[in-house]
Amino acid sequence: MKVLRLRVNGDEVEAAAPAHWTLLEVLRYRLGLTGSKQGCDKGDCGACTVLVDGAPTLSCITVAALAEGREVVTIEGLMPLHRKAGGSGPDPVQDAFDRCGALQCGFCQPGMLLSAKALLDRVPDPTLQQIREALAGNLCRCTGYTQIFQAVQLVAAERAGRAPEPQSWRRAGDAPSGGECPFREGTVPQTPAEV
Ligand code: FES
Ligand code: FES
Repeated sequence: MKVLRLRVNGDEVEAAAPAHWTLLEVLRYRLGLTGSKQGCDKGDCGACTVLVDGAPTLSCITVAALAEGREVVTIEGLMPLHRKAGGSGPDPVQDAFDRCGALQCGFCQPGMLLSAKALLDRVPDPTLQQIREALAGNLCRCTGYTQIFQAVQLVAAERAGRAPEPQSWRRAGDAPSGGECPFREGTVPQTPAEV
């Protein structure tokens, strides 16, 4: 048994666990953070993705001890950290996934959202190809990916001030925040690099 000292979602935590346990096991079965999903448990599906020092990391194949002294962010921390940084509501990535209907069963979402967040932090206005590559390790069995890519594009477009207005038939107050995803019925905007 080893006592691990971790920094998770901005909090210093201690957890006693067998030395060989993965970060996913410690998060789920010691800290009760079950948002990170145990899918394949062998590095194939991305459902267990967390951020370690800002980088998407497969927690099912990462020994927990390797995360000591580093900053771990799980899906549970996304909105609180956004608000702590001065934002309101959910993180913009969460909001965009909601507005674009980019989820069905939700099993892939924690990993998908954190991979998208890491990309947008690193590349504020990614091309569609960059989005595809950044999310390539996150498998979704439900959505077909189109609305997931649109959600990431929506965050980038709104940040750049080029997102079209919400559809006129939908009142802004009907949506959780910011109105309906404006790309759902139209064409996905192309960034200059893709034209
Ligand atoms: S559960 Fe970690 S990659 Fe599938
Ligand atoms: S929404 Fe079901 S696996 Fe992605």
